Amino acid sequence: MENYVLRNGVEIPKIGYGTWKTPDGDTCIQAVETAIKTGYRHIDAAAVYGNEVSVGIALQNSGVERKELFITGKVWNTERGYGRTMRAFEKTCKDLQTDYLDLYLIHWPASPSQYKCWKELNSETWEALTDLYKAGKVRAIGVSNFRRRHLLPLLQEEIIPMVNQLQLHPGMTQDDTIALCREYDILPEAYSPLGNGKLLNSDSLRMIAERYGKSQAQICVKWSIQHGFLPLPKSLHEERMKMNRSVDDFELKEEDMKALDVLEGFGTGNDPDQITF
Ligand SMILES: NC(=O)c1ccc[n+]([C@@H]2O[C@H](COP(=O)([O-])OP(=O)(O)OC[C@H]3O[C@@H](n4cnc5c(N)ncnc54)[C@H](OP(=O)(O)O)[C@@H]3O)[C@@H](O)[C@H]2O)c1
Repeated sequence: MENYVLRNGVEIPKIGYGTWKTPDGDTCIQAVETAIKTGYRHIDAAAVYGNEVSVGIALQNSGVERKELFITGKVWNTERGYGRTMRAFEKTCKDLQTDYLDLYLIHWPASPSQYKCWKELNSETWEALTDLYKAGKVRAIGVSNFRRRHLLPLLQEEIIPMVNQLQLHPGMTQDDTIALCREYDILPEAYSPLGNGKLLNSDSLRMIAERYGKSQAQICVKWSIQHGFLPLPKSLHEERMKMNRSVDDFELKEEDMKALDVLEGFGTGNDPDQITF
């Protein structure tokens, strides 16, 4: 199966292409064009990555029809609240040269450590996403970096998130948040599915990869998919782009999945209640 189906029936390609840290300008244009050429149809963008204009040029240059592409945007932390979110959305669409997005996410939750009224602020931002969804400007809406405590209040809303994009990779499984996502049919997307590249040096991972005759990156992507997550690997290199989505011809054994779940040494990611940005 090429796609997951979101709780509102919208189909989303099972592997996405990440654009964080991709330098703006020619590098980004070429990387996104190459990703599309090698078969990616799902591009994960964000205003804060500072390269949406370049992503937009690549989408145009690709020659692939807009309706064949799945484009995600994210509203950044400085733009929370109803009016700012609406304006941020318009700018993102303009920069990406599109009149709708397939998925729009709240990039990080406002947290109790930053704001007394964090729930209200998240709810206002969510109301903007809900109105964009009802107006047909986005096909699906969701959140990112929302842990269980941030997600719970949104589950009382009329429309609840369809996606939660989280740091998920071998050694980082975010079990309590994932359990809540599963309970409410919220698709977990796996960001940094290769542990931002650092994970690929793990000896344990290398040994598992050797047994399957696959690369460490392919094992990470497959681990995501076997968990029902949607991985978003990023690479600037064509061969790696191809490799990262060539994972259909093998299956990880249960014992290897378990060993990967508890792979040690790669931290616990940014806690949304501790971030200073
Ligand atoms: N919502 C959020 O807060 C959030 C946070 C972080 C990331 N994300 C999303 O998730 C995407 C992916 O995460 P990420 O960028 O942190 O990292 P990642 O995809 O886990 O890892 C990317 C790193 O791995 C290297 N790499 C890729 N494929 C490889 C392969 N086959 N063999 C060896 N090395 C390989 C890349 O180098 P080269 O480029 O040189 O190949 C790059 O250094 C982001 O681009 C972004 O779209 C979202």
